[in-house]
Amino acid sequence: MSETAKITVEGKTYELPVTTGSEQEKAIDISKLRALSGYITIDTGFKNTGSTKSAITFLDGEKGILRYRGYPIEQLADNAEFLEVAYLLVYGELPTKAEYTLFKESITHHTLVHEDMRQFLEAYPAKAHPMGIMAASLCTLSTFYPESQDPARPTEAIDLTIHRLIAKIPTLAAWAYKNAMRHPLMYPLNKFEYCENFLYMMFANPSEKYYADPVIVSALNKLLILHADHEQNCSASTVRIVGSSQANLYASISAGVSALWGPLHGGANQAVIEMLETIKNDGGGLDKWVQKAKDKNDPFRLMGFGHRVYKNFDPRAKIIKKAADDVLSKLGVVDPVLDIAKELEEVALNDQYFIDRGLYPNVDFYSGIIYRALGIPTEMFTVMFALGRLPGWIAQWKEMMEDNQPIGRPRQIYTGENERDFTPLEKR
Ligand code: ACO
Repeated sequence: MSETAKITVEGKTYELPVTTGSEQEKAIDISKLRALSGYITIDTGFKNTGSTKSAITFLDGEKGILRYRGYPIEQLADNAEFLEVAYLLVYGELPTKAEYTLFKESITHHTLVHEDMRQFLEAYPAKAHPMGIMAASLCTLSTFYPESQDPARPTEAIDLTIHRLIAKIPTLAAWAYKNAMRHPLMYPLNKFEYCENFLYMMFANPSEKYYADPVIVSALNKLLILHADHEQNCSASTVRIVGSSQANLYASISAGVSALWGPLHGGANQAVIEMLETIKNDGGGLDKWVQKAKDKNDPFRLMGFGHRVYKNFDPRAKIIKKAADDVLSKLGVVDPVLDIAKELEEVALNDQYFIDRGLYPNVDFYSGIIYRALGIPTEMFTVMFALGRLPGWIAQWKEMMEDNQPIGRPRQIYTGENERDFTPLEKR
């Protein structure tokens, strides 16, 4: 007999089905609870609520496990190319050689962005935050491909949208940066692989031959893989919710970019460097800042520390810490901000407040360090995260659509005024 859970309210007991995942995680299915009892469940911030079943990413926050489609993140980060991982996430299996060749050809074929998009770019102020530009540009792409707005589109059309998104996001990101600098835009050069092409569009200039250091290309490849998916986080849930209304994929991904922007999510990598710079400008002493982070009356938090689900360690942080060390020693970077980062890591890892709460440096702490060493401007850090996360968002959206999930629409407990009569303005 299958397992059930019993809930007793107002003297009545209701039996609810239990769902078990392939890694033995268990959930009580409360979807019929309201119809049976009149009760809903409440869980602000969804700390204990599963919004979906999903076969994409497994993570165990206590044990520090992260797997995409069953493959450990450590193996993927060490051995795979980012586009291989993108294929795995989106289509469910690693590509065969033939499938991978076709996939890469298709991505390469679509890297160019419609020339009219430049007019939008050029209209932004030089100081425009590139995440704002990314969210707007990705949504704007839907206007160039109106057929993508039809919810009944065939699979081939969906694949085309997916390939266009993966192909064009590095071009849009690099253009957002070049445009902010008022430098000439570099067009994609399709002799380059994905990561190298992005670095070329970011850092090349028309009058010099471009060379990307393999250590940098490899670090970027790793970073993108590590960020590629993270199950039902804030931005993935946003993509699913927006997509569940059958809004098109460009619009859904654009919403994911907006959700990622916040400093409690992807914006943390930018916030880390800004915090380190503040500490440096304040004289570099760490004690004051660690005390502020511990003070409940002070809103200051150590950016890049803590995670909603990883309470022991973030497996991505372990991998990226090594890549950060490699990049810093290869490039011979001397940077007082990065010295403060190392010191802060040491202090926090040995401080009882952080130990008791399971607050460790997360992936954003180290990724911020690498991006800075690569010469990527701080405001672009969250854009880099979005580049990596794109295949995950697409996979989450595709799974939701293929499962025919209903529109996302949570309930609430109303705590406002009871019914009262309207008072005309002159009597107020
Ligand atoms: N600095 C100081 N104290 C912290 C920090 C921090 N960075 N993070 C959590 N705490 C403390 C809280 O004050 C709380 O203490 P208490 O139990 O004494 O009240 C306890 O640790 C638990 O914190 P919550 O906010 O309940 O944890 P939650 O899981 O809701 O938040 C979050 C996780 C948002 C990531 C949080 O740790 C944080 O704000 N970190 C800094 C921002 C950051 O680095 N975000 C990136 C996340 S990773 C990503 O999106 C890829």
